[in-house]
Amino acid sequence: MMGYQLRKATVDDIDGIMKVELQSFSLPWSREAFFNEFVKNHFAVYFVIEDRNKIIGYCGVWLVVDEAHITNIAILPEYRGQKLGELLLRSMMEFSIESGAKSMTLEVRVSNLIAQSLYKKLGFFEGGIRKNYYTDNQEDALVMWVNL
Ligand SMILES: CC(C)(COP(=O)(O)OP(=O)(O)OC[C@H]1O[C@@H](n2cnc3c(N)ncnc32)[C@H](O)[C@@H]1OP(=O)(O)O)[C@@H](O)C(=O)NCCC(=O)NCCS
Repeated sequence: MMGYQLRKATVDDIDGIMKVELQSFSLPWSREAFFNEFVKNHFAVYFVIEDRNKIIGYCGVWLVVDEAHITNIAILPEYRGQKLGELLLRSMMEFSIESGAKSMTLEVRVSNLIAQSLYKKLGFFEGGIRKNYYTDNQEDALVMWVNL
């Protein structure tokens, strides 16, 4: 990760996170949703990766008792394929273990084979399917989990 910095995010990072969000998802979270995550949701922790103070990726987790739930992970398109997503998720897994989590779960679109490949590489298994989970196209979500 030459020249890149990984750190915990704060509410001041929302502008940068929104740039990643809007370029990464067909159903992006709103600015208000992120604001609530930082200000009201005491279970939520976000990490960002920066390239010279520009946010190029982020990952969020909800830490509830001994379970960690990944809310989202995304890298700016022009920075993909450099193992930064893997670095972010590995860092989030380590942080979750240190915070007492015993397992980690997430949902991913059944069509998102790239993200599924990342999760499988890091030891995630396929759990169940949540039917019609995504409201833009009624796509199913694959639930994935890993013991930490
Ligand atoms: C998923 C995402 C975060 C991966 O980030 P990335 O930095 O590009 O991925 P990495 O370079 O760290 O790759 C790690 C692993 O992911 C998988 N992967 C990444 N890009 C891939 C591609 N183009 N094709 C297939 N697998 C790919 C591979 O398993 C790869 O490991 P490998 O290089 O040893 O084969 C990124 O593609 C992204 O932001 N996508 C849009 C948002 C999204 O779909 N997020 C997930 C929502 S659940």
